[in-house]
Order: sequence, then structure tokens, then C-alpha cells
Amino acid sequence: MAIEQVKVGLQDVVIATSAICSIDGQRGQLLYGGYDIHDLAANSTFEEVVYLLWYGRLPKRQELEDLQFQLASNRALSSDILGILKNLPPPQHPMETLRTVVSALSLYDPEAEDMSVEANRRKAMRLTAQMGTLVAAFGRVREGKDPVPPDPRLNHAANFLYMLQGNVPNPENARWFDVALILHADHSYNASTFAARVTASTLSDMHSSITSAIGTLKGPLHGGANEQVMRMLLEINSPERVEDYVHNLLANKKKVMGFGHRVYHTEDPRATVLRRMSEELGRRTGQPKWFQMSRQIEDLMIREKKINANVDFYSASAYYVLGIPVDLYPLIFAVSRISGWTAHILEQYANNKLIRPLAEYTGPTGLSYAPIDQRN
Ligand code: COA
Repeated sequence: MAIEQVKVGLQDVVIATSAICSIDGQRGQLLYGGYDIHDLAANSTFEEVVYLLWYGRLPKRQELEDLQFQLASNRALSSDILGILKNLPPPQHPMETLRTVVSALSLYDPEAEDMSVEANRRKAMRLTAQMGTLVAAFGRVREGKDPVPPDPRLNHAANFLYMLQGNVPNPENARWFDVALILHADHSYNASTFAARVTASTLSDMHSSITSAIGTLKGPLHGGANEQVMRMLLEINSPERVEDYVHNLLANKKKVMGFGHRVYHTEDPRATVLRRMSEELGRRTGQPKWFQMSRQIEDLMIREKKINANVDFYSASAYYVLGIPVDLYPLIFAVSRISGWTAHILEQYANNKLIRPLAEYTGPTGLSYAPIDQRN
């Protein structure tokens, strides 16, 4: 193969079929199982979306109630896992802790090595149920507080905020957080999902596949971006400084986090919803500044670079006014994306083929081995 034919970064390469999620990057359209993300954000819940991703259709009432019950009853973490969480050294970044503890979950899961469809579905349920509990427990333990046990009467979104902050959130905040979970639940073959599927394609287990995904999500070009957006907003701190700050970044050929996308060539439909979330939550909490500054940055980026905001841009200011610590933002991504990751792993197992691409070799050839003291 000629080097010109190599698709760097697998850009625009279709490597598989999938019935879970589709993206039309030209029209800015995102569908889960055939349903438009705007329709789901307006009318659905995270629990319904989990069902949709796992089973390819919306649940009937009894099916939804069963899934809600299963999720709620699998949320609690064992004392062993809480013990690990408490005894790990402080991480340089909380994603290290999440990656480590999710990996450790398999040591306590009696079905860790059971590759039957039923066991894999149960593991998907447990991992999805527990990801939020882990993140909330970490958020509290590092502040010297006790973890808050999950409340089965609350839905997934409200329960997460409750476990993190120690009080039941108001219904508007809980609903917006539910919408954020819906928006982040899946995004086709994004980098972390691809990593999960590569691992699953070796017929490695579900915990290993999820651990791969978390390691991939951690990077600032993927799930780490919304944290960097908020750090930027905090550094700028006032609307008057936005123009100079962003011009300076662009002049130095730096990326502005929360902008650009490999697939969308128009607005990311998730950003459309998150913009509203950021504005409304900012207004209601009496902190409109972060939305205002975000809007200014977005206008500037579109005007001068023709680059649109992505999912990570407005989620940053929205999470901030919800009171979520900035370094937990990438972990929140995992609290939702675990549903999509597990759906993709199940789909991979159901019709597996080892994922093993080629690389065009560009190094030397034909060299003769030289003894060590004869090398120059
Ligand atoms: N700020 C400034 N310029 C950007 C940019 C950004 N956020 N995103 C892309 N560009 C520019 C690049 O500098 C490049 O310009 P050039 O052709 O003059 O060199 C061009 O747009 C293409 O960018 P590139 O990074 O090659 O595209 P990609 O498809 O490989 O990368 C991202 C996609 C998402 C990794 C990239 O847009 C990015 O790094 N964004 C910031 C991180 C982020 O928000 N990630 C979350 C994604 S959901």
C-alpha cells in the first residue's frame, strides 16, 4: 500500500457495522438506535437510553421498571472496593483512581471470567450501576467525608448528585443532569469505544475492555477536554479578557479545548442542548458569567476559525454551576458512557472478529546484525 493511502488517525475509515448509534457529521445529526438525540434529550431518561443502547429498542413499561430496579439494586459498592478506594494513594488525576478501581472490580466479580451472554449482560448492568457510585465515593473520600450510600428511590441522575453532594438535588438540576447523561451515553466508534471494542475483540473480558476505554477517555483530546475548558474559563475569569486570551492561544497555534470534531463538520447536536443547559443553570444559580464567557469564545471561534463547539464545551460551565468539582468532569463522562461502552462490547462479542489492522512500515530494511561492541 502506498503511504499516501494510509488514513492517518483512521480518519473517515469505516471499519465495522454497528446498529447502536449513527452520526451524520455533515448534517449534525446523532441517532441512538434510530432516535434523534434531540428527541431523546427532550423526552427520555438515562435509564430508557441504557435500555435502548443494550437492546436496540425503547423499553415497554415493565421492561423499564425492571431495568430501573436492577440498576438501583446494583449500585452499592462492597466494603472491599470501598476499602481499596480509601487506601489508594492520592492520584495525580482522578481518572487514575477510576481506571484502577474499575479494573479491581473484576477481582470481586464472581462472573468476571464468565463469557456467556447472560453473565456479560449482568456485568454490563453492575458496571453501569456502580460507575456513578465509584465516582461519587471518590469525590467524598478524598475530602475526608464518608461515602453516601445510594438511594434506590432516586433515578440514576438524581442519585449520583445526591451521593456526590450529600443532599437530594432540586428536580430541575436533576433533570438537566439526566439530560447530560443521555447526551454522553454513546457516540459510535469514538476513541474510547474503539479501544473497548479492540480489547473485547481479543475475547478479553468486559472489565478489561472497560479499563481500556477509561484509559483512552482520560486524554485531553477526548474526555479530558471539558475539564480543560473549565480551567480555561477560570483562568480567563472575566468577559473583558476573553478576546485577548483566545487570540493569544490561536496566535500560538494552541488548540482551544471544547472546539473541533473529527466527525462533525457543523454544530455537534449535543452542544446545542448543552448550550441551553449552561445558560439556564447559570441564570438559575445566579452565575451567568461562565455561560456569557463561553458564548463569547464560541462566537470568536466561529467568526475567526469556523470551528464549532463540541460536547465538551458547554458541559464544562453547566457542571460548574451544578457544583461538580472540575477534575471530576472526565469521570462524569464515564458515568454515562459506560452504557455505550458496554453496549458496544456486547455487540462485539455477539459477532466477533479480531480487530487487527496493518501499518505501513517506514523504517530501514536489510540490516545485518552487528555484535554490541562493533556498533556505531
Ligand atoms: N482549536 C483551534 N484549532 C483547532 C481546534 C481547536 N480546538 N480543533 C481543530 N483545530 C484546527 C487544527 O489546528 C487544524 O488546523 P490546521 O489544519 O491549520 O493545522 C485543523 O483545525 C484540523 O484539526 P485536527 O486536530 O487535525 O483535527 P482532528 O480531526 O485530528 O482532531 C479534535 C479533532 C477533536 C482532536 C480536535 O478538534 C481537538 O484537538 N479539539 C480540542 C480537544 C477537544 O475539544 N476534544 C473533545 C472532542 S469531542
